Amino acid sequence: MILRGRVLHFLKQPNPVNLEGSYEYIEEGAVVINEGRILEIGTYMDTRVKYPDLEVTDYSKNLIFPGFIDLHNHYPQVQVIASYGTQLLEWLQKYTFPEEAKFGDQSYAKLQAKKFIKLLLSNGTTTSVSFCSVHKDSVNSLFEEASKHNMCMIAGKVMMDRNAPDNLLDDPLSSYQDTKELISKWHENGRNYYAISPRFAITSSPEQLLQAGRLVAEHPTCYMQTHLGENKEEIRYAMNLYPNSKNYLDIYREAGLVGSKSLMGHSIHLSPDEISIFKDLEAIAVHCPTSNMFLGSGFFPLRNLINSGVKVGVATDVGGGTSYSMISTLDAAYKIQQFIDFSVHPMYAFYWATLGNAKALGLEKEIGSFRKGSFADLVILDTRGDLCSDIRMKTCTSLTEELFVLQTLGGNHSVKAVYVAGERSK
Ligand code: GUN
Ligand code: ZN
Repeated sequence: MILRGRVLHFLKQPNPVNLEGSYEYIEEGAVVINEGRILEIGTYMDTRVKYPDLEVTDYSKNLIFPGFIDLHNHYPQVQVIASYGTQLLEWLQKYTFPEEAKFGDQSYAKLQAKKFIKLLLSNGTTTSVSFCSVHKDSVNSLFEEASKHNMCMIAGKVMMDRNAPDNLLDDPLSSYQDTKELISKWHENGRNYYAISPRFAITSSPEQLLQAGRLVAEHPTCYMQTHLGENKEEIRYAMNLYPNSKNYLDIYREAGLVGSKSLMGHSIHLSPDEISIFKDLEAIAVHCPTSNMFLGSGFFPLRNLINSGVKVGVATDVGGGTSYSMISTLDAAYKIQQFIDFSVHPMYAFYWATLGNAKALGLEKEIGSFRKGSFADLVILDTRGDLCSDIRMKTCTSLTEELFVLQTLGGNHSVKAVYVAGERSK
């Protein structure tokens, strides 16, 4: 199969001062797909001559771009998104926990998983790192649904044994056993990967964090995801619960939870010591900009983290986040950094949501770009699909400017088609 269009993907992290070599753009381009993977990209003319018998789908005015990667979200929060008037801890108690309790019913979990995957794919997100609820079957429901679409899903059962309603609590041993069982069922099964998922220090006893650390040690190829330094009240509470720890990140480090496959959601309010731990242990700080604005959590120190050599990812955090669109997420990230005098370059932004996140996961050979042999996960973007964009695009004079306008004015409505492992899903 050949997809014809304006092909764009990234080769490495763009340096705003000299973008050369960081991306590949073929105006009259084509992507050749074979058995769900990228065979090659090139000019449309060349690929047509080389593969005269392949079927062509024409998207010539549109951008053909790698599918977006969302590094942090919560599938049991499909019904929580856009809940009014609270910050993190109250928001969890008032809206999130009551909704997550419903996932004890597997038929409800299946239904929500279906909606969630549909929302991701229709926004051009082809890889997701997701928290499930505390219930084992909520994890089965999500992986089963993701597998139907052959998309890349990284997810896990939330481990939580205190400071939440009783019907959402497990215990250190049962959470260890359930997670172990789910890992053997789903990790590296098709395109699925398991993420060991202690929710955060507030809802896990020290014993449970140690069990989570035991799982990490026993399953070094699994990911680990949790929350860190999102909200000032949360940090005070966590430090009261762990008075002997030097800082919030150290709570996790002491339990053996911090390493190169550890995804630390939010990571806003960080001390210099915590930034050093991030750097030394190669953990990933995941920025969730729409959520940080919506819950009034704070300003992610992006420039400081990049300059300190810390790996950074970007994510929606639905349902604390307010959009499934990674385009809208990049727009929010830009606006937050504007408050702290850093104008994120549009080339960096679009790199971040694709190859950057893929590299953070160590999956850059599989996803995030059009390198030969990668999965053919891609999104077709119409950068002038609405009147406002169409008018503004008329004065764009560079690809960089076009991407910035897409980021600012585009979103869900810019996504024209989506392919997962070579199959059309929107
Ligand atoms: N911290 C612990 N749980 C959550 C959650 O569900 N959402 C957000 N935004 N932060 C959390
Ligand atoms: Zn979260």
